[in-house]
Amino acid sequence: MNSLIKKAIFRFYREIGTRDLVFFFKKKLARKSLLKKTLDGPLRELAENGAINYKGIIDKDILDRWISEYGLDVSNITPSEGNLAIPFFNEDVLSILTDSKFAVLLDNYFINMYRCHPVLQCIPNLVITYPNIVHENFDSKTNNFPANWHTDYVSEFTVHLPLISINSSNTHTMYAKNTHTSLLGPPRNEQAIRNIFRSFGEKTDALMLDVDGWHQGRLEGSSPRIMVQFKYTMGNDLLLHPTEGLSDKALSQIKRTKENLSNYCVIKQRLKENYLFAKNMSTLNPKFSIIKDNCKNYDEYI
Ligand SMILES: [Fe+2]
Repeated sequence: MNSLIKKAIFRFYREIGTRDLVFFFKKKLARKSLLKKTLDGPLRELAENGAINYKGIIDKDILDRWISEYGLDVSNITPSEGNLAIPFFNEDVLSILTDSKFAVLLDNYFINMYRCHPVLQCIPNLVITYPNIVHENFDSKTNNFPANWHTDYVSEFTVHLPLISINSSNTHTMYAKNTHTSLLGPPRNEQAIRNIFRSFGEKTDALMLDVDGWHQGRLEGSSPRIMVQFKYTMGNDLLLHPTEGLSDKALSQIKRTKENLSNYCVIKQRLKENYLFAKNMSTLNPKFSIIKDNCKNYDEYI
């Protein structure tokens, strides 16, 4: 057999081998029927591309209050060799999760694509990315950033709320448009990836990404990216708190977070309050049941 054909077949099997074909075939059909009945608007844009910047939908006063209460100032953050993250759940977050424009859009998207509601996969996180390396020097074996092209858990969906302008001078997620129903995984040759959505945004925007699609963190270190991150799935792959305790990787991220935020004592105080709020919450929508389990995550932070 011609070696070019052999190569093409090998590549096809390697890239298809990572995907659940039945799931993605059904998703393709659901998307087709959704596009047939949906006129212009955010739902259509999301279904077409797999990603959207839903602009100006979060109350600026809430975001400014978080920035002030948690001391989220660039001067308090040191560049480091991986993401910094803290659990981020309080009364404002609960109200955004239950009643916001992005929650409505996400619900519509899941109902149309999967015939079910989105389920929070883990407790929300505040994520700060301020890399001390340039993207070209990134090594997936030694650096703790998701900067290679990849896909996440099947049906995973991520929402980012920027707490600072996200543009070409800070780390941002690159997303290959219309790969969220692809039967193939990302190719090894990243030059072959075209039609990219760069998740730039401002405070009050919600960046919404169906991360069944191919994506990578593009590392830029002129200023940090600060955002609140929500992760959802159909309810599969809930990130439960492991009975044997957090992994070494998770523990080293917590250590890195404490070491690279100079005002960690202020944040720790907020986390103590948040822990009590989450633990004592009496009425909780089953879509958010993971929060009670993930309360144990706070032990390592406070
Ligand atoms: Fe990812």
